[in-house]
Amino acid sequence: MRVKYPEETRELVEAGLERYFPAGKRPDILYEAMSHSLFSGGKRFRGILVIETAKTFGVSPKKALPTACAVEFIHTYSLIHDDLPAIDNDYLRRGQPTCHVLFGEDIAILAGDALFAEAFNLIAREQAADDPAGVLKVVAEIAGATGVCGMVGGQAVDVVSSGKQVDAETLEYIHHNKTGALIRASTVSGAILGGADEKSLRSITEYGVSLGLAFQVTDDILDVIGDPGLLGKTPGSDERAKKATYPGICGLERAQEFARERVEAAKASLSNLDSRTSVLRDLADFVFERQW
Ligand code: IPE
Ligand code: IPE
Ligand code: MG
Ligand code: MG
Ligand code: MG
Repeated sequence: MRVKYPEETRELVEAGLERYFPAGKRPDILYEAMSHSLFSGGKRFRGILVIETAKTFGVSPKKALPTACAVEFIHTYSLIHDDLPAIDNDYLRRGQPTCHVLFGEDIAILAGDALFAEAFNLIAREQAADDPAGVLKVVAEIAGATGVCGMVGGQAVDVVSSGKQVDAETLEYIHHNKTGALIRASTVSGAILGGADEKSLRSITEYGVSLGLAFQVTDDILDVIGDPGLLGKTPGSDERAKKATYPGICGLERAQEFARERVEAAKASLSNLDSRTSVLRDLADFVFERQW
């Protein structure tokens, strides 16, 4: 891979997840299920986005860490539920058996629910002290991006569209929402923590929206041509489940072109910002070139 991935920031998120993983013992099986899914790998792309965007606006990585980890809790919850038999019925995630395969569907549902709640517990406990009003905006951004007008809404349209012919507008809706929204919320949250002004917030929002759409398009592409060893999940899952995807609807080549266009649009959105944005640009290039 030609593009640099911010490994140091990834390690910081990894350490933060260990630190902020909810303390407690009972019931053991719930902790084991949450821990299995959270600590079996993952790029920590969304947590990195929170930190790298916050850094662009002068916030230290450590300061943004609780929000970065909260977003990763929510992302892992979404993966646990996405893999359930009722949704995608997948057996492999992050190179390991999926949560429901190891712990049963009941515990997997509850592990996802717990991670979702603990995300907001974490923000409220560890992030709110300095700027309660700003952190409330972060909570609204992340909760909004997870709910009906975000990830869950997108997943619902994804599920009801399986096996059907969907138009381009519906496909874009699914991808913007099921995946794009949380990625946008990660960049926007970082900017809010940094006290970004309206104009900068608009640029960062545009960046996150384009990046989020590109991320799901490359996820679809990797489901067709990805290496299972690198991906840690089973390619061909979309075709088996007759999912609406970009390669499925426009063909592989056009899907690749489209992902490249969105990545270039993401980078162009940064050009109005005064601060250093080289890592955010690298992260955009990573989305196009990634193999995992
Ligand atoms: C996979 O996300 C699911 C999508 C929303 C596309 P990632 O590719 O970020 O998965 P991890 O966190 O690295 O495992
Ligand atoms: C996932 O989309 C979106 C989520 C909200 C988790 P996919 O179903 O394509 O993600 P993978 O390929 O299973 O990681
Ligand atoms: Mg899915
Ligand atoms: Mg899936
Ligand atoms: Mg996929």
